[in-house]
Amino acid sequence: MSRENFGSKIGAILAAAGSAVGLGNVWRFPIETGENGGAAFIIVYVACIIVLGLPIMISEFLIGRYAHTNTAGAFRIASNGSPWKWVGRLGVFTGWFILCYYIVVGAWTLHYAFLSATNAFYDVDAKQYVDIFNGFVQNPWIPTVWLVCFVVFIHFVITRGVQSGIERSAKVMMPALFVITLALTVCSVSLPGASRGIEFLLKPDWSKVDSNVVLQAMGQAFYSLSLAMGCLCTYASYFDHRTPLAKSAVNVAMIDTGIAIMAGFIIFPSVFNIGMTPDDIGIGASLTFISLPNVFQQAFGNGSILAVIVSTMFYSLLFVAALTSAISLHEVATAYVSEEFAWSRKKAATLVTSTIMVLGILCSLSFGPLCSVTLFGRNIFELFDDFSGMVLLPIGGMLISIFAGWVLNRKLYHDELSNYGTLRVRYYRLLTFSLRYVAPVAIGMVFLDQLGVFDFLK
Ligand code: PHE
Repeated sequence: MSRENFGSKIGAILAAAGSAVGLGNVWRFPIETGENGGAAFIIVYVACIIVLGLPIMISEFLIGRYAHTNTAGAFRIASNGSPWKWVGRLGVFTGWFILCYYIVVGAWTLHYAFLSATNAFYDVDAKQYVDIFNGFVQNPWIPTVWLVCFVVFIHFVITRGVQSGIERSAKVMMPALFVITLALTVCSVSLPGASRGIEFLLKPDWSKVDSNVVLQAMGQAFYSLSLAMGCLCTYASYFDHRTPLAKSAVNVAMIDTGIAIMAGFIIFPSVFNIGMTPDDIGIGASLTFISLPNVFQQAFGNGSILAVIVSTMFYSLLFVAALTSAISLHEVATAYVSEEFAWSRKKAATLVTSTIMVLGILCSLSFGPLCSVTLFGRNIFELFDDFSGMVLLPIGGMLISIFAGWVLNRKLYHDELSNYGTLRVRYYRLLTFSLRYVAPVAIGMVFLDQLGVFDFLK
């Protein structure tokens, strides 16, 4: 069966960057940076990307491109059918699983883009934003309708195929995302008092950087680069043999970090402009859907056309970021089903879409009608989120680094990295060292930290 590749290097990089740039860049990174030492945190974060993130990303690229097949198949081929093949299957499962709750938030961004564009935040006072959000997520119908729209969109892109679906959409959406980010940054940093926000974000404070902060930076680097969920491995299986793997990985990491830092330039100048402090605004969903709509209204003029534009652009940015990430997750599962079970792409995509639609709706309803369905004190959405983030991702990441460092054939590794001798490989030893020793230990520590083991010991 002939298999499609990405048509261009830039298309390949933009698609992979689309996977990496997601909600995490906007709703976690800026706050983590501001609160954990500003530029000092950024330096630690970049170090984590270099030492931990890039070696694993390069390994995923290399395994995918070598095998030219879906993640489960790629690990089976790269491991010669040994039990290490389960690492690939775990990646597929993780990606599929994450997608079920990721689409719920993707759907929320659509609703908020719609509310912004229709000026629904005019004259809303700070407390009402909480009610608006709660009323929305608890409603059994509205989030579900947006969820269906979001999923149909993904399905449409996926069924168009690798080049005319994924690559083409990345080539349109990623530049759009970049332009929106830039425009919002300009708007926000030109507000009066913006410099205090910039100072909060960037002023280095090494005294805040302790072992906890380093673990946090590692966890964020890992999630932000979309590692261990099969996305990068699957996309790399569509790279052609001339694509320089290490260079592409560096490009993706730079785009991802650049957008994350710019998101900080969007958020903090506005927050400081209206006299709020970073402690008031929260993180994650409460930051994004409760604090920020209020911040934008107040900073850019309640109900003014500028506030409407800024707010709409911001949620469109989140929508595009979430969409390109969700597409990459869907492709992991679609490629798996279609190649491992010899189904047509359309049929495979339909199966994946149906499963995520059902599980996604359950996750979505867990804020409303299904809120009493809980396990370990978590609702369905939180179970999906925590189980994947705290268990599946770290275990997958650790296994990938051990596999790539200790098990994978060294000649194969070197050949792929050098594009079979046509590129000079400079950091081979460092890469291997990181994969063998640094990454497994570091990820193991993040894992234990997230499970609360260190708190317990203290
Ligand atoms: N890297 C994405 C982000 O920063 C997260 C993600 C992408 C999660 C793809 C799953 C799949 O938000």
